[in-house]
Amino acid sequence: MKKDFLWGAALSNVQAEGGYLEDGKGLNVYDTLEVVPEPGIPPMFCDTSVATDHYHHYREDIDLMAEMGFKAYRFSVVWSRIHPMGDDEEPNEKGLAYYEDMVDYLLSRGIEPVVSLVHFDMPDHLMREYNGFLNKKVIDFYAKHVESVVERLKGKVKYWITYNEINLAPFHSNLVAGVNRPEGMSQTELFAQLTINTEIAHAKAVEVIKRVDPKAKVGGMLGHAPFYPLTCKSEDILAADFKNKMHNYLPFDIMTSGELPAYFKHFMEKRHIVPQFNDEEKAVISSASQKLDYLAFSYYRSNVQSSFDGIEDSIELEDAILFDQRGIKNPNYDANEWGWQIDSEGLRYSLIDFYHRYEKPLFIVENGIGIDEKMVDGKIYDDERISYYQKHIASLKSAVEKDGVDLMGYLAWSPIDFLSSHKEIRKRYGFVYVNRDFDDILDLKRYKKKSFYWYKKVITSNGEDLKNDIEY
Ligand code: BG6
Repeated sequence: MKKDFLWGAALSNVQAEGGYLEDGKGLNVYDTLEVVPEPGIPPMFCDTSVATDHYHHYREDIDLMAEMGFKAYRFSVVWSRIHPMGDDEEPNEKGLAYYEDMVDYLLSRGIEPVVSLVHFDMPDHLMREYNGFLNKKVIDFYAKHVESVVERLKGKVKYWITYNEINLAPFHSNLVAGVNRPEGMSQTELFAQLTINTEIAHAKAVEVIKRVDPKAKVGGMLGHAPFYPLTCKSEDILAADFKNKMHNYLPFDIMTSGELPAYFKHFMEKRHIVPQFNDEEKAVISSASQKLDYLAFSYYRSNVQSSFDGIEDSIELEDAILFDQRGIKNPNYDANEWGWQIDSEGLRYSLIDFYHRYEKPLFIVENGIGIDEKMVDGKIYDDERISYYQKHIASLKSAVEKDGVDLMGYLAWSPIDFLSSHKEIRKRYGFVYVNRDFDDILDLKRYKKKSFYWYKKVITSNGEDLKNDIEY
C-alpha cells in the first residue's frame, strides 16, 4: 500500500457523544426518533443522553486511536451543537469550540481529521417545522451550518465529507434527511424529490467548502451494498441492475456528471413526476461536479435482488423492486446476528466497479461488524471482528495491488463502542469496549479489545501483517 495510505477508523458523533443538551446543544432527529428494530431483533433501545459519553472522553478516545497508530480519523460535527434549532441566526460558539479542540487535539497526535457535515443529526426543529430536506429552506440552513464549521476549521481540516450515506435519504428519510412523507405524496415522488434535494445540499456544501478553503479536499459519500441477482435468469439480472442504479449509483452519477442521468429522468417521466428543480440549482450541481475530489463510501455487506412473479405492470414491478423489504439471503455467505451477510470479496468488486465507473480516487470510510460482546475479567476476545477485518483488508489490497484501484484510505467502523443507528449498545463495533449496558450506564470505562492490538499491527505494517497472532 502507498506510504500515505490513510489507515484509521470512523465514528458518528451523534451515536457516541451523549452530552445531551450540554453547552447549548439542541435536540436532533437521532435523539427524538422512535426506532423500529431490525427484522428479528428484540427492541432494546438506549436513550441517547449519555450514549458512550464520547463528549466527555474524546481526548482519552483520541489517545487510544493514536496508540493504534491511526493516520486518519473520521468524525461528524453534530449539526444541532452548532445550530441548536437549525434556523438560528448565529452558530453556537461552544459547539464550534468543542470541535475545534477535537481537531487541534487530533493534529497534535498526528492524526488527520476527516470531517462529515451531516450524519443522522439534523436539528429536530428542522424536521418538525420544515420537514427536513424536503423543504428547500433547509438546504440553505445546511449550507449555513457548513459555512460556520468550515470557516472555523479551515486550514486545519483537509478532508471533508458532505453528507453521510446520501443514498439512504429516500429510504430512511426521517433519520437521514429529517423528512416524513407528506400525505398525498407517493413513495416514488418522495424518492425523486429527495434525491434531487439532497444532491443540491451536497453541491451547495461543495461550493461553500471550496470557496472558504480552496485547498481542502471534498468528497461525496454513500452507503454501499451491491445487489446481486438471485439467479442468472434475465428478470433477476434486470431487477438487480435497476436496484443498483437507483440505490447505489444514482447519487455518485449525479455528483460526478453534474446532471441527472437519463435512466433517472426516464424513471420520473414515466411516472409523470415533475420535480422542483430550477436552473440555478442545476447550475450548482453542475459546478460542484467539477470540484469534487474523491468518492467515499461505507461497506458492510452485499444484498440479493430478485424480480417478483405475478406483477405484470412494469412501473408496479419497478416500484416493488425499489422498495423491496424481503431481505433475500445469499446462500453463499454467513451473517452476523443482525442478518448482515459477510461478503469480503464484495468490497473488492465494489472498488473495481466504482473506480471503473467514475475514475475518481475512492475512500472507504466505514467497514466493520456489529457483535454482541461480553467483557470477561476486563478482556474482550473479538476474534470474529479480527476475522471480518482480515478478509476485508485482504480484499481491498487485491483491488489496489492487482486491479489498480486508486484508494486513498481505509477507515474501519469504529474506534470505540457507540449506539447503533437503532440506538442499541448490544451491537458493538469498536476496537475499544465502553463499559455500559442497555439500561445501566455503569462506569463508561474504556477497555482495549483483542482487535485493538491486531489493528495496531496492521497499521504499523502498512497492511502487510494481517495474522491473528496477538497475545492478549
Ligand atoms: C452506517 C452509518 O449506516 O452504518 C452508521 O453511517 C451506522 O452511522 C453503521 O452506525 C452501522 O449500522 P448500524 O445500524 O449497525 O449502526
